[in-house]
Amino acid sequence: MKKYNVLMVCLGNICRSPIAEGLLQHKVNQLNLDVHADSCGTGGWHAGELPDPRSIGKMDEYGIDIRYQHSRKIKGSDFEEFDIIYCMDSSNLSDVRSIAKGKEQLDKIELILNEKTFGKEEEVPDPYYGAGDGFEFVYRQLDVATDAIIEQLKKS
Ligand code: 4NP
Repeated sequence: MKKYNVLMVCLGNICRSPIAEGLLQHKVNQLNLDVHADSCGTGGWHAGELPDPRSIGKMDEYGIDIRYQHSRKIKGSDFEEFDIIYCMDSSNLSDVRSIAKGKEQLDKIELILNEKTFGKEEEVPDPYYGAGDGFEFVYRQLDVATDAIIEQLKKS
C-alpha cells in the first residue's frame, strides 16, 4: 500500500473534523499503516485552538487523545499535499470545491459519509450549538466511516 495523506474538513475544525482525524490516525497507527491524517476548517475563526472540549471529552471516552491537534484553515497547498479530502457536510463540500483548482484537485474531494464509506450519502451534523449527545452521534458516524475508509485504502 502506498502512503496516503487524508484531510478531514469541517467548518470550524474544532468539533467534527478533529474527531474524524483522531479516529483515522488512531486506527491506522494501531494497524501500522502508512497513512497520515490531518484536518482543517473552511473558516479560520478558531485557528490555533485545541479541539472543542466536548470533542476532546468524547474521544477520551473511547481512549483516544486528540489534544495534539490545533485548528487551522484550509489552504491551497492542501489540494496538492493530500490524496483524499473528506468533507463533513454538503456546505463544506461546496466550499472546498469552490477553492479547488482543476479536475485533479476536484476529484480528491468527497463527502465523508457516502455510498462507499457508509452505505448511503449522509451529512455529519454540526454539533457545535446543540445538546452534548450530538458528539456521540458524530463519533458513531465517523467510527463507521473511518473503518470503511481503511478497508478501501488497504485494497488500493
Ligand atoms: P465544526 O463545528 O465545524 O464541527 O468544528 C463548528 C465549530 C465552530 C463554529 C461552527 C461550527 N463556529 O461558528 O464558530
